[in-house]
Amino acid sequence: MKAYLSRRYRLSAAHRLHSPAYSDAKNREVYGKCNNPHGHGHNYIVEVTFSGPVDAATGMVVNLADVDGFMRREIVDRFDHQNLNQQAIFEHLVPTTENLCREIHRIISAGFKHAKLERVRIEETSNNFFEISE
Ligand code: NI
Repeated sequence: MKAYLSRRYRLSAAHRLHSPAYSDAKNREVYGKCNNPHGHGHNYIVEVTFSGPVDAATGMVVNLADVDGFMRREIVDRFDHQNLNQQAIFEHLVPTTENLCREIHRIISAGFKHAKLERVRIEETSNNFFEISE
């Protein structure tokens, strides 16, 4: 039997969608107003889901304090109130929310060993959201 635990975090960040693979005109065509040179911001909601057995001793899938500590340190502190385009991981990667989702999934998978990461879901606006799962 597998149990799931999900938790949400909020972070605000700016980005500009611009691909070095395209000309300026093509970038404007592909990304529209999201290609505005001055960038724009989002209040992202990042949801993470972990799975595993319910530990017989603690009664938990994973300790929320461990999840919160990791997420605060590695995700929220890193991205909150930042310009995503200036982050090292987006130096050669367009900071779309698909890519942000993928990078957050990669960071958690690589660094958090207390439970299995099932899914990262990011709400960019109330109308669009993105998910990465293995
Ligand atoms: Ni945007």
